[in-house]
Amino acid sequence: MSSEFHFVRRLPPYVFEQVNRAKAAARQAGADIIDLGMGNPDLPTPEHITAKLCETARRPRTNRYSASRGIAGLRRAQAAYYARRFGVKLDSETQVVVTLGSKEGFANIAQAITAPGDIILVPNPSYPIHAFGFLMAGGAIRSVPATPGPEFFHAMERAVRHSIPKPLAVVVCYPSNPTAEIASLEFYADVVAFAKKHELFVLSDLAYAEIYFDGEPPPSLLQVPGAMEVAVEFTSMSKTYSMPGWRIGFAVGNERLIAALARVKSYLDYGAFTPIQVAAAAALNGPQDCVEEVRKVYKARRDCLVESFGRAGWPIPAPAASMFAWAPIPEAFREIGSVEFAKMLIDEADVAVSPGLGFGEYGEGFVRIALVENEHRIRQAARNIKKFLARSPQSMHNVIPIAQTASR
Ligand SMILES: Cc1ncc(COP(=O)(O)O)c(C=O)c1O
Repeated sequence: MSSEFHFVRRLPPYVFEQVNRAKAAARQAGADIIDLGMGNPDLPTPEHITAKLCETARRPRTNRYSASRGIAGLRRAQAAYYARRFGVKLDSETQVVVTLGSKEGFANIAQAITAPGDIILVPNPSYPIHAFGFLMAGGAIRSVPATPGPEFFHAMERAVRHSIPKPLAVVVCYPSNPTAEIASLEFYADVVAFAKKHELFVLSDLAYAEIYFDGEPPPSLLQVPGAMEVAVEFTSMSKTYSMPGWRIGFAVGNERLIAALARVKSYLDYGAFTPIQVAAAAALNGPQDCVEEVRKVYKARRDCLVESFGRAGWPIPAPAASMFAWAPIPEAFREIGSVEFAKMLIDEADVAVSPGLGFGEYGEGFVRIALVENEHRIRQAARNIKKFLARSPQSMHNVIPIAQTASR
């Protein structure tokens, strides 16, 4: 009997686990770790949303199994959001499904559309489920760059020309986790044109639709005329309304893809707890000043991070959107790699970040810094890092081999 199960073998031990272990050990030893690692929103859910949840939970029959594809009122609320925000018209009966979080929704659609050996084009670095959802469904991954530029299309061209079978779908995720890059509508138009020409599906992850700081709000891929023929798009309540633990998200778009997702889900789940769905509809239909507030908080943290880390000697490019900064590892530490560097930051500066390698091999050389601690804590992290950077790499010969430091 094989010592490991088929799918488990396809899931390498989470790279982040190494950093999590270092974090747990430091905390055990009494360290106050400033945790900028996981993208786990720390802000409270707005009161009117929580109140709606509680009120609905007290009503009779709301404890029963719900609707797997989502209650009609919530699907209509999501269609109204797309109409209002993007000018995209959706049929809430056939083009909208409520998911138990966009992460789960993504994994479910991968299961729904992938045949063994199908090839999926996935950005590298990427949010892990974009690749592993398909690997768990028996598919194979071919990487494309995360940056929405010409190289993205060159990589897709090469994939279409050289892959057997021809790729089934391409994943796009902007604002990007982890790189925080945003895409223009022109880029999306080119992606849709390419997908139509080569008969690919497009799966767009728009989890950070409402977390933007400068200039125009990020567009939806579905704004491209005709995108509905080839694409679905995922959005999430987790970041917009600070509801990460509630597990509620959406897939919208192409009817055939939505029907496939709904079918798989109907075998897997009974839908989110009805009071959660009612509260989510209240969030989408209600006042949106809470979203403006969330944006303001993340923007203030972003400005604080860029300014204080820069002054500490670690220049960080300012992200225009998402809740992350994608930071090049300081020159003096580049050779040890992102995992060792992240562990070193925990041990030497009491600061946790996510190693770029955890998002794919092309994430190496970077770490992802999540804006999930308040400004006071971010400034404290910068002070710790300043002290850490000021110490001579020579004093760290146990972690950076002397031979490497000597060559600098
Ligand atoms: C790009 C992206 N998609 C999806 C998710 C998960 O969102 P949800 O809570 O809706 O599953 C995240 C969470 O970090 C994310 O970064």
